[in-house]
Amino acid sequence: MTAATFDVINPATERVVETVALTSAEETDEAIVRAAAAFPSWRAVAPGERAALLRAFASAVDADRENLARLEVANSGHTISNARWEAGNVRDVLNYYAAAPERLFGRQIPVPGGLDVTFAEPLGVVGVIVPWNFPMPIAGWGFAPALAAGNTVVLKPAELTPLTALRLGELAREAGIPDDAFQVLPGKGSVVGQRFVDHPAVRKIVFTGSTEVGKQIMAGCAASVKRVTLELGGKNANIVFADADLEKAAATAPYGVFDNAGQDCCARSRILVQRGVFDRFLELLEPAVHGVVVGDPGDEATEMGPLISAAHRASVAGYVPPGAPVAFRGSAPDGPGFWFPPTVLLPSSVDDRTVVEEIFGPVVTVQAFDEEADAVRMANATEYGLSGSIWTRDVGRALRVARGVEAGNLSVNSHSSVRYWTPFGGVKQSGLGRELGPDALAAFTETKNVFISTEG
Ligand code: TAP
Repeated sequence: MTAATFDVINPATERVVETVALTSAEETDEAIVRAAAAFPSWRAVAPGERAALLRAFASAVDADRENLARLEVANSGHTISNARWEAGNVRDVLNYYAAAPERLFGRQIPVPGGLDVTFAEPLGVVGVIVPWNFPMPIAGWGFAPALAAGNTVVLKPAELTPLTALRLGELAREAGIPDDAFQVLPGKGSVVGQRFVDHPAVRKIVFTGSTEVGKQIMAGCAASVKRVTLELGGKNANIVFADADLEKAAATAPYGVFDNAGQDCCARSRILVQRGVFDRFLELLEPAVHGVVVGDPGDEATEMGPLISAAHRASVAGYVPPGAPVAFRGSAPDGPGFWFPPTVLLPSSVDDRTVVEEIFGPVVTVQAFDEEADAVRMANATEYGLSGSIWTRDVGRALRVARGVEAGNLSVNSHSSVRYWTPFGGVKQSGLGRELGPDALAAFTETKNVFISTEG
């Protein structure tokens, strides 16, 4: 029987980049069994040695950074500057968690009649399921802390974007990570991803993707009380108060939403502007949107590339039908490629689907609010709660609003959400658990408590 294959398409040219064999359900089961067999020896690798292997993996990623970045440009249409940052992020996350094996401290808790200690023990096989929008970083946020804590990992990239994950698998092997401790299995979510959820030897799922699939995964994990971390969608507010540095807020707003062509769960896709400065903000926003350089993602000057696929472009275009309340639009190339121009909408209702649903493309809504409390209420009028921005010069207001907005990651006078050494994740239906930062290791270990009697 011939193995099923998938043609990986360059979204900027619509040409086939490579044909990848899809992993079957049987092959997935075999890989999981191998990962389970490799677990006892991987967890037994001395902490300093496991750390050294992770640092070697990080060095291999660093040496291959330009190649990984070029692969991502071809596979995902990411701009070359973003793709270089993404490969660098995998290196940094590996280096950060390479410091963990020697620091997975337990605790000694005072008890009568003996000694009580806790151990942070690895879980076993961890299944990491990755979406197509940030193939490298999201993979690294799962596999680096999982491996550091002594787990073995099976990783499924999105069917559309397997190339950098496959390369990372090769680099891990070259760095000396045992073959079966980290396996990359390209394939369909309904086949490979589903086996991760259903197979009893997989002890934890790290899933990033849509809220809809995340709910199915959580329900599937319930059957065996499998641990799960979920990073799901977002519909994030960018709140601009009248006292803000309006020039800066307007100049940066396009990059807060159109980066990665808006295919970013942290995209600030709802701009809320205080009514007194609404018109002035739009005047400043228009040239900023026109200034976004959209084109060949391999070009150093490009700031926004294409969407990932024809189907996804059709979905995004569905939010901007003829007659949509378009304020203004940026540019996009003609010809082959899944292009969509940066688009600014002025919806008339707070219930409009462009305000409520995650579009996951370069489309942003702008709406007015009156008082601080209205801004917080509008920002929270969503089932999502991942990120958001607050623009004001009033420190007290910045803190009040930051405490009032229901989201896992907020930035004040900035759109920055992600640093590998600070926690990342969502509230409400944007997710469950946190990745990155000092506490992520807790999601890849179980606490074991041991009492040792000192009675004679
Ligand atoms: P999904 O369709 O949810 O796919 C995500 C991953 O899950 C893919 O690898 C997919 O495989 C797999 N999958 C699909 N069905 C599955 C099943 N039944 N069992 C196990 N795995 C399954 O999302 P997407 O379209 O790739 O990504 C876009 C969404 O992800 C957006 O909503 C976005 O907000 C969210 N996202 C969130 C974050 C964070 S950090 N919160 C980050 C990035 C993206 P296939 O290869 O078959 O598609």
